[in-house]
Amino acid sequence: MASHRIAAIPGDGIGQEVIAVGLEVLSALVAREPGLGLEVDIFDWGSDHYRNHGRMMPEDGLDQLRPFDAIYFGSVGAPDIPDDVTLWGLRLAICQGFDQYANVRPARLLPGVRGPLRDAGPSDLDWIVVRENTEGEYAGAGGRVHRGFPEEVGIEAAVFTRAGCARIMRFAFHLARSRPKKRLTLVTKSNAQRHGMVLWDEVFSGLEGEFSDVATDKELVDAMTTRMVLKPGTLDVVVATNLHADILSDLASALSGSLGLGPTANLNPERRFPSMFEPIHGSGFDITGKGVANPIASFWSAAMMLDHLGEPKAAKHLMDAIERTLAAGDVLTPDLGGRATTKDVTARVCELLAGRNA
Ligand code: IPM
Ligand code: MG
Repeated sequence: MASHRIAAIPGDGIGQEVIAVGLEVLSALVAREPGLGLEVDIFDWGSDHYRNHGRMMPEDGLDQLRPFDAIYFGSVGAPDIPDDVTLWGLRLAICQGFDQYANVRPARLLPGVRGPLRDAGPSDLDWIVVRENTEGEYAGAGGRVHRGFPEEVGIEAAVFTRAGCARIMRFAFHLARSRPKKRLTLVTKSNAQRHGMVLWDEVFSGLEGEFSDVATDKELVDAMTTRMVLKPGTLDVVVATNLHADILSDLASALSGSLGLGPTANLNPERRFPSMFEPIHGSGFDITGKGVANPIASFWSAAMMLDHLGEPKAAKHLMDAIERTLAAGDVLTPDLGGRATTKDVTARVCELLAGRNA
């Protein structure tokens, strides 16, 4: 039996709630899939770890994670700790340390979900946002001088390398090629940013010949927001920089019905390091502890993890259970207009996985 080793890092806030039930759903899947084996280790890293030890994760955290096949991550962020500390101390440290350069964020208007776009149906909104995940505006390059003085300066340098642009764009081209529409939109801002963004565009143009079966176009990031809202059906796969795709993927998730639905894969496509799977949403301070967080984003992220682990059948069963839960519409969390709790949704998905209620 193939057994995959998974490191679960629930992290903070609702991350803990949605990963706990995500693991329940994975157990239900293991119970019904002969041949699927998962070994899960849970790591209590995050803001409490920081309060107790002054670090979000132990110094050898990456070494501890390295032997795993995948990381299942909740979220980080706490009201009393600066966001840059929580993020750079854990999530970004993992993305960069494990060279997870491809951040993949599907957004679909799933049957049964009413999104905010009046005229859009499921076939109009079926996107994958591919986000460059290791450099660009999040490279961490820059610094501060004259700290605390009136003339203080902060410089945040965006870093674009030819190799970094090419690898994420190649990844996006391959993904676009594997989908029915075979369309790839490059998001840019090369009209205003003349250096890195122009290199970004040039690398893209240089690759188009290699992927002549993929239809391409280019959109400025500001115009992209309006296109997503007004002409959603013209988009398929989208490739964008770290910051642009951060923003656009939140928009994509909201347009698909709720931020509580959107999944993420942070991939090291060459598999030199474990990849990490997490919901798009953050730690949700406002609803933490209330038991109403939508667990679907975390379940969908688990399905992406199974796919990555070479378990497409299990991934499909989980996706089917998610889709049937949403389509039935009677067990939905408040973000989708329902009254169900995290546990209710989990119970429904587990029942469907077990073949009851079929
Ligand atoms: C995301 C989040 C993070 C990001 C934040 C929490 C730093 O918004 O995963 O999109 O911007 O990468
Ligand atoms: Mg974001």
